[in-house]
Amino acid sequence: MGSALAARLALGGLGVVVGSRNPERAATIVDRLKDQWKGLDSLQSGENDEAVRAKTVVIAIPWDSVVRTVDEFARQLAGKTVVSLANALIKMGSEFSALEVPRGSIAQLLQSTLPESRVVAALHHVPARELANLARPVEVDTLVCSDFPEAKAEAISLLERVPGLRAIDAGSLAQAGAIEAMTAVILNVNQRYHARSSIRLTGLPEEG
Ligand SMILES: NC(=O)c1ccc[n+]([C@@H]2O[C@H](COP(=O)([O-])OP(=O)(O)OC[C@H]3O[C@@H](n4cnc5c(N)ncnc54)[C@H](OP(=O)(O)O)[C@@H]3O)[C@@H](O)[C@H]2O)c1
Repeated sequence: MGSALAARLALGGLGVVVGSRNPERAATIVDRLKDQWKGLDSLQSGENDEAVRAKTVVIAIPWDSVVRTVDEFARQLAGKTVVSLANALIKMGSEFSALEVPRGSIAQLLQSTLPESRVVAALHHVPARELANLARPVEVDTLVCSDFPEAKAEAISLLERVPGLRAIDAGSLAQAGAIEAMTAVILNVNQRYHARSSIRLTGLPEEG
């Protein structure tokens, strides 16, 4: 998810650093992306402590490592917009279920771990595989929420650089639990129908 988003944003004209616990791994990913797609000159790689120097930081790691990982970078992330896209899910038998998370969602848990940062929840229902195919628009809506309107607006304008992705203001961070949990429902529908569907809301005005 992280490398796909990084490539999309670099193609959209932004300078992006793909972080990793292992800089060689990040460099390999960036080299592979640059071999595969044209126009990614602004994409760089580095360790996580280089990636967190960016103005906006996306935490694209599994939900159960989010708190431990960001805790280490709390000082560097202070004052910044931090995007949370993690879904706390468990697969029981063939069905995905959302886990109950302290504070109500991974995004709220992240916000309580990073009180000096401005957490924005987004991208939960965007399939990584579609995001990674730079040849096609993604054609998906993403519900974006935060307790910080300016950070939310910043994240929305960032995400709207991705062709086909519509970022929708879904309110405060209190909405993140429902948004994250909905991912389990979408994954179960996709399993049932052998599909890779996501969400598109109808009836919204064309602009805004
Ligand atoms: N896959 C999707 O379609 C999708 C869609 C929407 C949202 N999401 C959310 O996006 C997040 C990333 O999903 P993904 O599918 O991209 O995951 P992933 O490929 O399994 O992991 C992404 C990266 O997280 C880092 N990581 C793994 N374990 C870690 C640990 N214990 N501590 C710190 N970093 C660790 C790894 O980077 P390094 O080893 O290089 O450090 C890894 O490359 C998840 O929270 C997921 O819920 C996924």
